[in-house]
Amino acid sequence: ADATRLAGRRVLITAGPTCEDIDPVRYIGNRSSGKMGFALAEAAAAMGAETTLVAGPVALATPAGVSRVDVRSAAQMREAVLAALPGQDLFIAAAAVADYAPAQAAADKIKKTGESLTLALVRTPDILAEVAARADRPFTVGFAAETREVEAYARDKLVRKRLDMIAANRVGLPGLGFEADDNALSVYWADGGAEIGVAPKPLVARRLLQLIADRMEHRAA
Ligand code: C5P
Repeated sequence: ADATRLAGRRVLITAGPTCEDIDPVRYIGNRSSGKMGFALAEAAAAMGAETTLVAGPVALATPAGVSRVDVRSAAQMREAVLAALPGQDLFIAAAAVADYAPAQAAADKIKKTGESLTLALVRTPDILAEVAARADRPFTVGFAAETREVEAYARDKLVRKRLDMIAANRVGLPGLGFEADDNALSVYWADGGAEIGVAPKPLVARRLLQLIADRMEHRAA
């Protein structure tokens, strides 16, 4: 049954936004609430997995039976993921990692002087692509937040980042996705796909983990 479906498996999940500091009081962030990633961690533990959750700054309680590592920036999230990676069977990247971060955080608060201000930003490390590129990689699942041409963009990401599976949510629809309690996912893998209809995130999480378990068993067979 479901309660033992992931027994003996080790699962690593990222969740939430990252915050990239500009100076001691300001940062670049995003609207990820962490709810989807936390729901995945809770569901993985409920299915018997030894579950580790690397969380960006969010106001959510740690799900029962989950070990949690709190981080702030993309660079810290990468460090925590790589440290926890050995021995993992499954990696799910549900975090909304910042794409760009200030080249350097200012040591002192930036003063309001000129009429305009230019921040120099640099690309953050792509944690998911780095994990997927490893020879000893676990089964690797990414998320894609798309506003249009969901399947084409998600499948492109699946191939480009060498993922085993990608879960796409259509953002910008009322009541779904970022900050919301409900979600719906289009899930793709190399030779197939599935739809998870609109439901509370805990149920969507359970359905996604069932699909993942199916694919992991299919690959092992
Ligand atoms: O390329 P894009 O950012 O749309 O890919 C989204 C997926 O990649 C998500 O699973 C996200 O957690 C992961 N990601 C990551 N590190 C980044 C950027 C995205 O792990 N720097």
